[in-house]
Amino acid sequence: MTSTVITHIGELTTNDPARGGPLGILEDAALVIEGDTVAWVGPAVDAPAADTYVDAGGRAVLPGFVDSHSHLVFAGDRAPEFAARMTGEPYAAGGIRTTVAATRAASDEQLVSHVARLVQEMLRQGTTTVEIKSGYGLTVHDETRSLAVARQFTDETTFLGAHVVPTGTDPAAYVDLVTGPMLDAAAPYARWIDVFCETGAFDVDQARTILAAGHAVGLRGRLHANQLGPGPGVRLAAELGLTAVDHCTYLSDEDVAALRDAGTIATLLPGVEFSTRQPYPDARRLLDSGVRVAIASDCNPGSCFTSSMALCIALAVREMRMSPAEAVRAATLGGAEALDRDDVGALVPGRRADLVLLEAPSHVHLAYRPGVPLVAGVWQRGRPV
Ligand code: NIG
Ligand code: FE
Repeated sequence: MTSTVITHIGELTTNDPARGGPLGILEDAALVIEGDTVAWVGPAVDAPAADTYVDAGGRAVLPGFVDSHSHLVFAGDRAPEFAARMTGEPYAAGGIRTTVAATRAASDEQLVSHVARLVQEMLRQGTTTVEIKSGYGLTVHDETRSLAVARQFTDETTFLGAHVVPTGTDPAAYVDLVTGPMLDAAAPYARWIDVFCETGAFDVDQARTILAAGHAVGLRGRLHANQLGPGPGVRLAAELGLTAVDHCTYLSDEDVAALRDAGTIATLLPGVEFSTRQPYPDARRLLDSGVRVAIASDCNPGSCFTSSMALCIALAVREMRMSPAEAVRAATLGGAEALDRDDVGALVPGRRADLVLLEAPSHVHLAYRPGVPLVAGVWQRGRPV
């Protein structure tokens, strides 16, 4: 097994609670990789020898971003819809159907190459773990192939047949399809099941039915909830004890208390509010209430076509009242927790050697220098990419 020592790290974000603070920061540090795993972390002066030596030159190193929410399997784009929004049109769930038509018309090869391009784009920007949903197929065939494509790139795949009711379909008949033949075909390719629980998509009773059907075949639940307005979705997520519920833009005090009591993570997607001109969720309120928070990109062609976790961190700091340290933690360990993963999201011995070298002395620069490509190097499973 080959080993690498990365030394002269000015600031190492470990996310190790034993080291204190939100980020478990170690200054003047070194990190040793053996194979695909972090083998040692400590002061640079104590670093053991290794086969390969990398000098970080005083720059910052942090865990690779864990993007726990994306919709990368699609064809076409909706730039005209975005432009219309920027001149006053509201965002509506129905736009999903435009992408469904383009996705159904695309070949498997086109979908694979499109996802490959986006995953590469993410990797270059420091995202080393990504969750990918289906949801632009909405037939048994197209949902299943969307998940089969996603599976080529990640183990974190999510069946989102319940994204929107396809045009010309009876909603009750569609829920029967999603919970029956579509689920049976899709389940072998999915770890999670998700529902867009929102006015214009699926109501809370439909969401409950769909998540129960997924649970019965071994899929774990997640929800899109309270994105476009207040609603019962977040409380359903808490009641079911889901690992995470995503968006959480409009929350009542009861919603916040339910999340805290259930330990369900609120995954915030500030790129969506940026790209839909909606108010940002108040992360400070959640954190101060004891709710755990993750940040993800929601990369998709409709509500938010960014793959940049750095942008999401900057928005979370500027618009959602998070400190830079809280935002970086939410985009790394927070994402890992939202996927119930204990092998990524932190740089401690035994975890996967997924890490980012910044062209900057500290994690603060991710928010302090918005829009600047600060990723100088990425290691995934111990290998430079
Ligand atoms: O997470 N909210 C539902 N789904 C996506 C948007 C889908 C689309 O507009 O194409 C989201 O925002
Ligand atoms: Fe989404």
